[in-house]
Order: sequence, then structure tokens, then C-alpha cells
Amino acid sequence: MKENLIIFNARIATPLGSSAREGKEMSWLHIIERGTIEITNGTITYVGPPRSGEEAGFRWGYYWYDAQGRCVLPGFVDSHTHFVFGGERSEEFSRRLKGESYMSIMQSGGGIASTVKATREQTFDQLRVRAEKFLKKMTTMGVTTVEGKSGYGLDKETELLQLRVMKSLNNDEKRQLDIVSTFLGTHALPEEYTGRADEYIDFLIKEMLPLIRRERLAECCDVFCEDGVFSIQQSRRLLTAAKKQGFILKLHADEMVSLGGAELAAELHALSADHLLQASDEGIRRMAQSHVVATLLPLTAFALKESYARGRDMINAGCAVALATDLNPGSCFSGSIPLTIALACIYMGLTVEEAITALTLNGAAALNRAESIGSIEVGKKGDLVILNSDKYTILPYYIGINCVDVTIKEGVLYINNH
Ligand code: NIG
Ligand code: FE
Repeated sequence: MKENLIIFNARIATPLGSSAREGKEMSWLHIIERGTIEITNGTITYVGPPRSGEEAGFRWGYYWYDAQGRCVLPGFVDSHTHFVFGGERSEEFSRRLKGESYMSIMQSGGGIASTVKATREQTFDQLRVRAEKFLKKMTTMGVTTVEGKSGYGLDKETELLQLRVMKSLNNDEKRQLDIVSTFLGTHALPEEYTGRADEYIDFLIKEMLPLIRRERLAECCDVFCEDGVFSIQQSRRLLTAAKKQGFILKLHADEMVSLGGAELAAELHALSADHLLQASDEGIRRMAQSHVVATLLPLTAFALKESYARGRDMINAGCAVALATDLNPGSCFSGSIPLTIALACIYMGLTVEEAITALTLNGAAALNRAESIGSIEVGKKGDLVILNSDKYTILPYYIGINCVDVTIKEGVLYINNH
């Protein structure tokens, strides 16, 4: 759905540009007091001070919305989630509370493998209904674009099922947000391929990637590059082939162990490297040099009781940092945007302005969408968030509390009843 909408009396705050903001640029927000935003057929056609005659509050064919001085930001982009899956893992969470680690549970046959088992038992409709509920919650928190990964099938049929669920949600005329799909066939080694990781990668390269390209089921290809999951060499082989076949590259990199995932992302010119809790100084330097977006997921570090990624150091080194939730059934069963912002500011050392850029323009860049979303500028989609205050500084201050009053997707208003 696309609408014509004029928002007036808004305190507009937005990063500017059609590419990721790096280093110092991340704190540059353009502010317009008492501003007007005009959206025509879903696209921004004017941003600036009020135009003459606007006080009358009428233009044929447009809805009008008085922001009453509240702060308006670009819609949030959650550029790393796993929102299509079956089952749940609360018992595993309890085991972790008693001291078992995420990786030891995974190595003993639990973790991702248990969600794979549950997802393989689901039908298309079951997966879709549940995924749609997550999307509705995201809208209430201001998310207007979300990335979603496969990786809970690890066989042809179920990987395609997850991707088709996302495609069908994204094709829905009534959808409230846009979905960018990522193929994560290398999320874990499926049981059937135990001891045959290289054969599994061959299968993905020869069969899965071409099929997914042909059916346009995913734009990006990701890999869980981690000690005991997929090695640097295996990740390089898969991603190099994926790039040749036209995929955009992403990596789960240096999450638990400093393996050189950040360096690999730089070498392959991946669009983003994600997690990065253990990224080395050299890895950070190379990501900055190669313009790899460093996507940080503070909710996961929080839920796993791990130390946070070094967001401040990354920005100081000139990186473009994006923030995302990592919503998934295992390491982080939360899609909370407010808590993501609070943790990023409190524990990763981001300023509020940097956190806003990280969740908007840099998130868009991590999805190859910076030309069409991520800032409030003429020509971009009319995807916006209206806060319940004139100040954006409330974002990390309201710890874990949603302060989004209205989410706007291509000119359509979704009003929260707090
Ligand atoms: O991003 N690290 C790998 N993948 C997910 C967790 C998936 C799961 O535990 O189900 C993550 O944290
Ligand atoms: Fe993830």
C-alpha cells in the first residue's frame, strides 16, 4: 500500500546520504525544526520548512498529520534477524542460566539443530502465521524494513520453504514492512552431512545457490563462520561462489572466537560482517578500509552474557556501524529495538546520534538499500517513525521502553495505542 501524506509541525532528525556513514559522519544528523514532509504515492517529495498556505492543512488527495512538534526519524531498519522458524528453546535458555555455554549445547546436538528439527515439521502456513506475528510487533517499534535469514532447514525443501514464506510476506499487498531475504544454508552442518562439511558446501554451491537465484528467493548469502561450525576456508569457498552467482555477502563473524571473520569480510568485500564481539584490531582496521558495514547485535551479547562488541573503537577506526536485533529462537529471543538502542549506547559507547544512524541509513546500507531508504530525503521511500517526544535523546533513556507513537510505511500511518 502506498499513500499521499503530509506531516507538518515535525522536529525532523535524519542522517543524510545514499551510502553508509562512516566514523565521525555517523554523528551528523540534519535537524529541521517545525518541518514538513510530503509523501506522494509512498515516496518523499518534499522535506523542509513549512510552505506557504500549509497552515490551512489541506491539499486535495493527501492525508494530513500534525506531528505536534514531536521528533520524526527515518523508519528503523533491522538488518539482521532470523524470524522464520518453528519451535522454541526456553529449556536450553534455562540450561545456559545454570552455566552451560551456547556452543557446548550446540556441540551436544542442541542449539540450532533443535530448531532445524522443529522447523522441518512445520507447514508453510504454520511458519507464515508465526512470522507475521513477529512482523506486526516490529512495526510497533518503528521497523519499516527487516532482513530475514533461512538456516533452520538445512535441506533443500525446508530452506526453500523459509525463503518462500518471506517472499510471500513481502509480496503481500497489505504488508507493513519490507523484507530482504538472506540464504543461510551454512548456519550449521545438517546431521545428514556429519563429517562431510565440504560435500555439503558443494551441494549448496551447485544446487541451492542457482535455484535460489533463479527463483529470486534471496539477495544475500550469509555463513556462520565460527570455531566448530564453518571454518574460514569453508566460508571463503562458499562466499566466493555466492558472489560469482550474484549474491551480496554477509557473515556471522568473530562472534565467540576471534577467528579472522572480520578480515575475511574485508577480503571478500562483503556488504556486512555481523556480531564481531571478538573482532581483532586488524580486522576492524580492514573492515574500515574495505567499507564493510560492521553490524552489531547487542541483544545477543546481553542474552549470552558475553562482552559487547567494541562499537566505539570501530567508529573511531572509521567503520560504518549498523545496529540490529538478531531476533532468533536461540541466542537472542528478542526483537526489541528500544533495548538494542539502550545497550548500544550504554555498553558499546555509541552516542544517540550514532545509534540513530546505525539503525537507519547504515542498516539500509547493510542491505544494499541506502539509495532508497534510511534517511528522510526527497526520492526515498516515505518510511518514518514519530516518537512520543520532541527529543530523540529519549531513545536510550527509555531503557527497553517503546517510545514510538507512529510508524509510517510508504505514507501509510500505523498508530500505536500505548
Ligand atoms: O546470530 N550465531 C548464529 N546464529 C544465530 C543464532 C541462531 C540460533 O541459536 O538459533 C545468531 O546468534
Ligand atoms: Fe544471526
